[in-house]
Amino acid sequence: MIKIAPSILSADFTALGKDIAEVETAGADYLHFDVMDGIFVPNISIGIPVLQSVRKKTDMVLDVHLMITQPVRYVDAFVKAGADIVVFHLEADEPQNTQAAIDKVKAHGKRVGLSIKPKTPASTLIPYIRDLDMVLIMTVEPGFGGQSFMADQLDKIREVDALIKAQNPVCELQVDGGIDPVTAPLVVEAGANVLVAGSAVFGKADRAAAIAALRG
Ligand code: DX5
Ligand code: ZN
Repeated sequence: MIKIAPSILSADFTALGKDIAEVETAGADYLHFDVMDGIFVPNISIGIPVLQSVRKKTDMVLDVHLMITQPVRYVDAFVKAGADIVVFHLEADEPQNTQAAIDKVKAHGKRVGLSIKPKTPASTLIPYIRDLDMVLIMTVEPGFGGQSFMADQLDKIREVDALIKAQNPVCELQVDGGIDPVTAPLVVEAGANVLVAGSAVFGKADRAAAIAALRG
């Protein structure tokens, strides 16, 4: 079963409630919430006050993708603001802090995920894989919506899929960046089961048709 996670980075922030209601009605599985700090990635997006507002407006699973340095500093705050799944980057801190951030999210009874950028090898996930509810493989360099899918990430998706099947079969495998009706079948064939899509959903007038097109 493939899950679709529309990324509100591509939504209209002056009409966010309406945009979220549309994808919820259209049967999106998760709502993907991109947080950027201008340091870990060269862009600044949205954060805790927006998440609190979104939480009040929807019962969707809120999938929060932290593209920030030292996420261990903020994971508690994002859980309190309403995150159901907290995903942060393996490259964003030292291993002991990465493990501490994982433990913090789990202590709240929430789901936790680790993300890796395109140049980070699959093997870096091995020390953490048994603790994770989700792995997020970036299929663009994080920071901006609307970039082109990096086909050279398909082998890594296959590698991580094999790792998950061997070590933690309940862990979900999410992909993020350049996912559209053309690239979706490629990542699904490689083993992904949660597809993030920003422009391919919010860039289309008919959100239900856009989500259906991604499910294929
Ligand atoms: C990029 C973000 C993505 C972004 C995807 O750094 O993590 O979630 O919104 O946008 P599209 O689907 O347009 O590539
Ligand atoms: Zn994202």
